[in-house]
Amino acid sequence: MIRELNDRFTQALIKAFGAEIIPSEPLVVAASNPRFGDYQCNVSLSLTKVLGENPRAIALQIIEQLQITDICLPPEIAGPGFINLTLQPDYISDKLLNIYQDQEHLGIELAQPRERIIVDFSSPNIAKEMHVGHLRSTIIGDCIARILEFRGHQVLRLNHVGDWGTQFGMLIAYLREAYPEALVKKDALLLGDLVTFYKQAKLRFDQDEAFGEIARQEVVKLQSGNEESRRAWELLCEQSRREFQVIYDLLDITIVERGESFYNPYLAEIVAALDAKGLLTTDDGAKCVFLTGFTNKQGDPLPLIVQKSDGGYNYATTDLAAIKYRTEKDGAQKIIYVTDIGQSNHFAQVFQIAQRAGFLPPEVKVIHVPFGLVLGEDGKKVKTRSGDTIRLRDLLDEAIARARQDLITRLSQEERTETEAFITEVAQVIGISAVKYADLSQNRTSNYVFSYDKMLALQGNTAPYLLYAYVRVQGIIRKGNIDFQEIENNLQILLDSTAEQSLAKHILQFNDLIQEVEIELLPNRLSQYLFELSQKFNQFYDQCPILQATESLRISRLILAELTARTLKLGLSLLGISVLNRL
Ligand code: ARG
Repeated sequence: MIRELNDRFTQALIKAFGAEIIPSEPLVVAASNPRFGDYQCNVSLSLTKVLGENPRAIALQIIEQLQITDICLPPEIAGPGFINLTLQPDYISDKLLNIYQDQEHLGIELAQPRERIIVDFSSPNIAKEMHVGHLRSTIIGDCIARILEFRGHQVLRLNHVGDWGTQFGMLIAYLREAYPEALVKKDALLLGDLVTFYKQAKLRFDQDEAFGEIARQEVVKLQSGNEESRRAWELLCEQSRREFQVIYDLLDITIVERGESFYNPYLAEIVAALDAKGLLTTDDGAKCVFLTGFTNKQGDPLPLIVQKSDGGYNYATTDLAAIKYRTEKDGAQKIIYVTDIGQSNHFAQVFQIAQRAGFLPPEVKVIHVPFGLVLGEDGKKVKTRSGDTIRLRDLLDEAIARARQDLITRLSQEERTETEAFITEVAQVIGISAVKYADLSQNRTSNYVFSYDKMLALQGNTAPYLLYAYVRVQGIIRKGNIDFQEIENNLQILLDSTAEQSLAKHILQFNDLIQEVEIELLPNRLSQYLFELSQKFNQFYDQCPILQATESLRISRLILAELTARTLKLGLSLLGISVLNRL
């Protein structure tokens, strides 16, 4: 929509003043206030300097050249020289019918060009519990991947799990003493136990020097490919992996595991390549690269250590190897990393070094998508690594249990009896959707307060509200009892009332919105859109009788309802939420 309008203005500007004056920013934006119409073009104001004329005069000349009568009512010049546009009802109807025919994509265009994109998300650490930060990454990353996939990009969803490093030395050394079975036998441990063992191992490591030495030797053994250590490591990873999978299944997440260990064979090359580029400095035995733009308190340039004095590599080294591999071997054109905001510096540094070392071709985009903390209702950070951690499993189970309780209460109020299977399914969908939606409806860069009561509320911008809205719209369509196939040749959308027009225009904006979300990578824009959609539908339903209307109006309004339902369903699915037909 916006692109079409932009094109028309571009043509007009070229005719009026020549191609040189076309600014790089978009000419047309959504109207800031519905009183001013649907869209506006403010370019006249920014052209006053270049053209040496007053903005109203410029606006007049633009309008004179503008060919837009098929889309808009006659444009209006307002204030100092804004050009306001209002869509023609006929144009809206035609567009909506096109969307209606486009069952699968609802008018959402495929990206041009379609790219190969990696989304690096979730990425918990083996032997440690997956925590709420990983939950955010999982939910946001999945949503971003879904939107990119829907736009036709080729998306590789990668789970960069922390499955390598010193923690394994500690853990193996500790288990050898405390529970040797776990190192040779499958299924000897649950992740819960593994986490406890990990904590105990860490404690020993910090307190007992002799143990520390044994642990370090274990790391060396593992890294040098010792068979027995390798087997123990695999068992531990397997253990964690199985627990993570339970969460992914609950959340309906697909992701390919390619952990840090995968890049292990490439780490030496990375350091050598940095050296060959003349980027490497050895400082106290540690190999590092000095960053530009990052300084310590004294104002001296900050080093990024890529190999420690004991020969071990760092988190950043692995990320450098991953960038190289992903661009060279996977052919990625864009790499998106979804982690908490605390890792912003890490990524800025890694991106800079990758670029300077030539691992990152200039045409490949790397984007860190940061998010804020999940806070408890007391406003304090929900504890993660140390202290009392909320287990993710427990958190999701609790959401489902509460959704179930709410449902049972409602069923008894409505004097309904439903099967156990129905209750289980609905509770599961509502509970999981509520958790996802609570996260996705916040601007990801801010912290958000995790509250079961809020996320499960039937009113407000919540998953239950939208799921009910969907069921309600479907109910209305069912009552309308029309055969959409039969009216296929006689489709018509009539937009007489304001509420109808407002709903129709909103549906029309879906395509633009999705493309904006793709650029900004802000899922909350999509949830806000869906929330407004259901509100606009309610106003429409309040003000426009559907079932009692005359035949042609009734059909038209049922098509609007049908489009609302489809948009809700598709939009929610892009958030990773599946609708229910009955609640
Ligand atoms: N495992 C890391 C953590 O738990 C997140 C990894 C993110 N991805 C990456 N390529 N660094 O904090």
